[in-house]
Parts: sequence; C-alpha cells; structure tokens
Amino acid sequence: MSGTSLDGIDAALVAIGRDTPPQLLGTLAAEMPDTLHQQLLHLCHAQEVSFAELAAAEDAFCRLQAEAVKALLTAQQLSPEQIQAVGSHGQTVEHAPDGHNGGPAYTLQLDNPSLLAELTGCTVVADFRRRDLAAGGQAAPLAPAFHQALFGRQEGEQLILNLGGFANLTWLPSNSKTPVTGFDTGPANVLLDAWFSKHQGGRFDQNGAWAASGNVDPELLERLLDAPFFQQPPPRSTGRELFHLPWLERHLAGHEAPDDVQATLAELTAVSVAQGIQQLPFSHQGVTLITCGGGAHNADLMARLAAHLPFATFASPSSYGWPEDWIEAGAFAWLAHQRLHQLPGNLPSVTGARGPRVLGGVYAP
Ligand SMILES: Nc1ncnc2c1ncn2[C@@H]1O[C@H](COP(=O)(O)OP(=O)(O)OP(=O)(O)O)[C@@H](O)[C@H]1O
Ligand SMILES: [Mg+2]
Repeated sequence: MSGTSLDGIDAALVAIGRDTPPQLLGTLAAEMPDTLHQQLLHLCHAQEVSFAELAAAEDAFCRLQAEAVKALLTAQQLSPEQIQAVGSHGQTVEHAPDGHNGGPAYTLQLDNPSLLAELTGCTVVADFRRRDLAAGGQAAPLAPAFHQALFGRQEGEQLILNLGGFANLTWLPSNSKTPVTGFDTGPANVLLDAWFSKHQGGRFDQNGAWAASGNVDPELLERLLDAPFFQQPPPRSTGRELFHLPWLERHLAGHEAPDDVQATLAELTAVSVAQGIQQLPFSHQGVTLITCGGGAHNADLMARLAAHLPFATFASPSSYGWPEDWIEAGAFAWLAHQRLHQLPGNLPSVTGARGPRVLGGVYAP
C-alpha cells in the first residue's frame, strides 16, 4: 500500500481465515526515496505529462514495491509460494469519480502488477478500484469493508478514522441490520505536509509541533470550510485534485503567519471530521473512535480531535493486534483474499455502487 501522502510503501503480511478476524503477522515499511516522491508529486499536479514520465515513475514505484515484498518475505522466512497473493493498490495519481469537466468518471492508480508478479514470483491482485467505479460507485473509500471484517464483532457503536493524506471515516453500527457508512471527510496530512515542506523543509511536521506553536485563524478556517466538498452528502471521496497547495493559497489573505496557517489546517481536519461524525444518525455518547493512519501519531491533531469530540472514547487499533500504521495495507491484503475467493470487496452503502462487486484482477506468478 502507498497512499496519497506518498511517504512510502507499507507491506503487511496478513493471515486471513474464515471464522476469525484477519491477523497481522509481519510488517515492512519502505520509505519513498526523494526522487520518486518528487516524480509522483509532479504527476499528481502537472497539467501535462508524457507517457515516458508515467512509465518511468510506474517502473520505479513497482520496483520499490517488489523490494518491500521480497524483504518482508525474507524477514519472515517465507518463500513466494507460501503466500497466496500480494494485493497491490498502486499509486493514485488522480481520482475523479464524478468525472472532470463533464467527462467520464475515472480513478487512476499507477501500477504494474505484471512486473510485480515477475519480480516477486508471487500471484498479484490489483486494480481494485475501477470495478466499483464501473458499477456507478465512488471507488473509495474501500477500507470500510475491511474495518467491518476487523472490528465488526465488537459491541456498541464504532467509528474508525483513518488519518492518511486524506481522512476517511467508517461507522460500524451496533445494529447489524443498519448498513455500514463510510466516506472521506476531507484533507488530513496532505495539506499539513505540503505547507510544512514549503515553509520548514522536510516531509512532515513531527507530532504537529509546528502547528501547535501557531494559533488558529478563525476567518481562514471559515473560508476553507466553505468548500462545497464539506457540504456534500455521502457517498463522497476526494483527493489531491481538490485539496492542494494552490487551493490553500487562494484562500489566504496574505497577512497570515505560516505557523498560524499550519494550526488552521490541523483544525480544518479536526472540524471536518467532527462534522462528519455529528451527521451520523446515532447517539454519539460513549462511541468508540479507533484512530489509524500516520495522522494518529500527530499529537497536535489528536488533541484537536479530542477537543471537538468530548463524547467519544478514543482507542488504538493496537489493542486488536493492529498498530495504526498497518490498517490500510491490511485492507488491500484482505481485498486480494476477497478477489481470490470471488467475494465482493466493496460496500455499496459506502461507495454508492449499484451492488456488491468482486474487485480487481489476478496476475499469475
Ligand atoms: N509522528 C508523526 N507526526 C506527525 N505526522 C505524522 C507522524 N507520523 C506520520 N505522520 C503523517 O502521516 C503521513 C503518512 O500517513 P499514512 O501513511 O497513513 O498516509 P497515506 O500514505 O496517505 O495513506 P492513505 O492515503 O492510504 O490513508 C505522513 O505524511 C505524515 O504527514
Ligand atoms: Mg503512507
């Protein structure tokens, strides 16, 4: 798995049985080298790109994935034949589930599952999103079905919040007859990383220390929250096409101190998550909120969330054997398993697809 933050490849070894929740057996994180990070960032935001640029980035990305898979297998003393499949999400470079300027809906993940199969000797399952899109869905978020498989056996109302480049929320209702809800709430790390990198250098604001040194600018916050996305009812998903540095800069009055902007961006994430939760139709008192993704390590962001959600009991997925950084990677292992067993991977109540669909294609070793 590599998400919209472009921070690295997360490789997870997962055991999936019929009657027990998926189990995390091993992990390996491969940091995204600066050159590849820049290449992918360019592809995400450039107006024009050449096929050669696309191919070069895809090749480098795929080779990094293969190294991660091989290193994880070596560390776990496993041969490629001993695992059923590698689930590869690919790298999203554009996500336009509602089309672009009246054109067809699309979501574009750079990926080369043929090369990954060739390099690793493993069966590869890939292209998870486009079948849901073909069935009229948003193709995102896909993690809620996995959240249900992982956490769905617990009592009471449960929320799972993934703080990746963007934030997505899953509601697992206590009444099993109520459909699972899930949607993107808006930007999380993507704007924090971009603003931090521009003003402080480096990839991200460690523990949100810089954001914590600033003060929220209420007028800026209001202008940012005015974006139509925040008013859109689910199903909804978003990406770098909507929320990016020029978008932020268009909303600045020009006199803001950079650390105040960082604080305001963190507050934007917290407020948009809180609004997403408040719209869900259940009594929120005592709800369990499981937080995952890289943003769960951001102390400033977590404090802001806690301030907006005093009724929630915050929980770490670690108590289920899944540290916060591995849920998304686990989701794509689980989705690969679903594909191999011809089982649906999407939740129509989440993506808005016409029905459950078997997601992805299988590439032989
Ligand atoms: N200690 C930390 N303090 C602050 N931010 C952190 C810390 N650790 C990680 N992060 C943030 O988390 C980001 C990576 O998170 P993650 O890998 O969950 O996002 P992602 O790759 O976009 O995933 P996805 O889009 O699939 O949810 C980093 O870019 C950084 O902003
Ligand atoms: Mg990541």
